Amino acid sequence: MSKKLKVGIIGLGSMGSTHLDIYSKIKGVEVVAVADSIQSRLDGSSKAEGNISGQAEGGVSGLSVKKYLDGMDLINNSDIDIVDICVGTDLHYIFVEAALAKNKHVLVEKPLARTYDEAQKIIQLAEQSTCNIMSAMCLRYWPAWVFLKEAIENSTYGKCLSLNFRRQTSFPGGAFYSDDNQCGGALLDLHVHDTDFVNYCMGLPDAVFSQGYKGPSGGVDHVVTNYIFNKTNASPLVSSEGSWTMQEGYGFNMSYTANFENGTLSYLLDGEETLKLSRDAQSENIKLKEGMGYEFEIRAFVDEILSGNKTNLDLLIQAAKTIAIIEAEKISIETCSVVAVKA
Ligand SMILES: NC(=O)c1ccc[n+]([C@@H]2O[C@H](COP(=O)([O-])OP(=O)(O)OC[C@H]3O[C@@H](n4cnc5c(N)ncnc54)[C@H](O)[C@@H]3O)[C@@H](O)[C@H]2O)c1
Repeated sequence: MSKKLKVGIIGLGSMGSTHLDIYSKIKGVEVVAVADSIQSRLDGSSKAEGNISGQAEGGVSGLSVKKYLDGMDLINNSDIDIVDICVGTDLHYIFVEAALAKNKHVLVEKPLARTYDEAQKIIQLAEQSTCNIMSAMCLRYWPAWVFLKEAIENSTYGKCLSLNFRRQTSFPGGAFYSDDNQCGGALLDLHVHDTDFVNYCMGLPDAVFSQGYKGPSGGVDHVVTNYIFNKTNASPLVSSEGSWTMQEGYGFNMSYTANFENGTLSYLLDGEETLKLSRDAQSENIKLKEGMGYEFEIRAFVDEILSGNKTNLDLLIQAAKTIAIIEAEKISIETCSVVAVKA
């Protein structure tokens, strides 16, 4: 039997715990080390929760793995092949830099970095590295969003006329999310999913017009954006809303409405997940592949390494440019004007 890839996870918050569960389902990999600077998360006596049911269910208790209080010590463990970075966004760049310097493959949680500047530095490091690196933009792998991208590309229901994305929750709380300098507010942390999907699906917008307001992170925690594609009148109307300022108890939902010449697709995940297709005066529910994007994304990364394929740099660069769009959205909110995306 071939040797399993050895994984070390840095950060045991909601995402580190989610990744931990997923690796246990994938053949060809094993988690051999975890790191968290909070002792109780490391020993399993406290545990972070996810915002989607089925997420972060397991934990480190009972696992026979090496444990580190500092992620840098995990990176120095020469047994580890893959470093999975699930710390706060402001720390992504330094951990990616350190892991690539030790010739580790890197999976780094979204957004790729706290700033476009840092994201560009990561691209340079990735270009020079022989190791694989993936930005965990999970929506690119989420079945309902894969379905939407294919419907647009294949004109399954005719030309796409409009796309609207929404993502809403109450404030997640905790030190990381309470500091705009670390998380970038809901604008970067939450809404980045939809902005990245727009970029991934439609290409880089020429400009954005955004409005928003500040919230408990100290940064923009509710944003509404129109993405402007000047170059072609053929592009659909594209807009998105992201917020974590809903009242406590509201829960989490994400949704889209995509209107085509010959059909309307409407998707909602709010506890349950539904994708509805309306056409010819009727509506039907579309059966989606079961599972969360997190799992398909990690499987894709592991498969890429096991099959000896190189990093898809175009996808990584796109994830970096998404941060440039977010930064244009921030300026648009501050200036109440249409802002060109420079990336
Ligand atoms: N893909 C998604 O849908 C999704 C969802 C939520 C969060 N995220 C991203 O995942 C990242 C983490 O988010 P979270 O909610 O899990 O955050 P979190 O704050 O709950 O967890 C981060 C953990 O990292 C630990 N940590 C900090 N510095 C460390 C160090 N030097 N060494 C070891 N551990 C250290 C902290 O103690 C904490 O437990 C963020 O970048 C966030 O944007 C992605």
